[in-house]
Amino acid sequence: MSSSSSAPTTRPDVLVTGGAGYIGSHVCVELFNAGYRPVVVDNFSNSKPEALRRVGEICGEAPVFYELDLNDPKGLTEVFARHSFSAVMHFAGLKAVGESSRIPLTYYRENVGGTLTLCEVMAAHGQSRLIFSSSATVYGDPASVPIDERFPTSATNPYGRSKLMVEDILQDMAAAPAADQVVPWNITLLRYFNPVGAHDSGRIGEDPAGIPNNLLPYVAQVAIGKLPELSVFGDDYDTVDGTGVRDYIHVVDLARGHVAALKGLSTAGAGCRAYNLGTGRGYSVLQMVAAFERASGRKVPYRIAPRRPGDIASCYANADLARRELGWSAEFGLERMMEDAWRWQSGNPNGY
Ligand code: UFG
Repeated sequence: MSSSSSAPTTRPDVLVTGGAGYIGSHVCVELFNAGYRPVVVDNFSNSKPEALRRVGEICGEAPVFYELDLNDPKGLTEVFARHSFSAVMHFAGLKAVGESSRIPLTYYRENVGGTLTLCEVMAAHGQSRLIFSSSATVYGDPASVPIDERFPTSATNPYGRSKLMVEDILQDMAAAPAADQVVPWNITLLRYFNPVGAHDSGRIGEDPAGIPNNLLPYVAQVAIGKLPELSVFGDDYDTVDGTGVRDYIHVVDLARGHVAALKGLSTAGAGCRAYNLGTGRGYSVLQMVAAFERASGRKVPYRIAPRRPGDIASCYANADLARRELGWSAEFGLERMMEDAWRWQSGNPNGY
């Protein structure tokens, strides 16, 4: 286990697994802004230490970090021995839907196995407060939109199933009789819709390995000339213009949702709760392309391609519960998401 140095501090330490990733790095910035000290555990399998250095550039202080795999209980135990965490935010995991169907065992080992190890080490250290990085994918193909937290859950691929399995495991842990719980679990599940954009400094952002799977990084790489054209997966859905509709949320809004959830743990007490983090608004693929062209001043050539297997027509959140119970709602609109995505992409054409 290699680690960075840690100076003494009076701020509460928050463990951030996967803190060097796209969402994790933005959460580190917002934790610093809110007066916490993020302590990152990351195996850098799909992220770079440079992201943490740049968080340091933005915040004047980099997160303490440990290069460590969550499936290493000994290493994780050492981290818990060195810090007294006020909560754990768990982002570490694999996230490519297509890849998950090719190597499902790896997905279950990393996403489910990693969470089990984390929870066991937490319990052994009397740590009960956990925020889990879940996904709107747990709603499967929803019967209607907008989607609220009481909608039935299901999964259509191993990635989605790994998220759902972890949600179920965490719910079961929190539902066990209080007398049988090693620690009184206090857990919040955050179901993300589609995170996009970047910190407005343009210094941290999404840095996908290889050809991007997700719409926004793909569009950004077309705009900058790294990829020739976008394939729009289907134009015959029952939506405004026939292309898929999603609830895109600025990653900084999403990160602030985590800080709100962290504060909410204190008032919520023991149990396990789920919140949607979305804007409540849906945009189609073609609306996204047009908005990106406006923000970047570049053309984004595209062609209509067949539907992508497993895609649904529309997916957007009812985000009222997070507003009511966490006092959080998304602030940034589409234009800002695109401007920030473009600033990151144009300033860092090859990522970190
Ligand atoms: N799309 C294209 N062309 C592309 C990529 C995407 O047309 O090259 C379309 C898709 O068909 C979809 C929309 O753009 O209509 C968004 O696709 P993304 O791949 O960006 O996002 P998804 O909604 O499919 O997936 C996201 C997360 C997953 C998560 C899922 C459901 O990336 O991790 O939401 O919550 F499982």
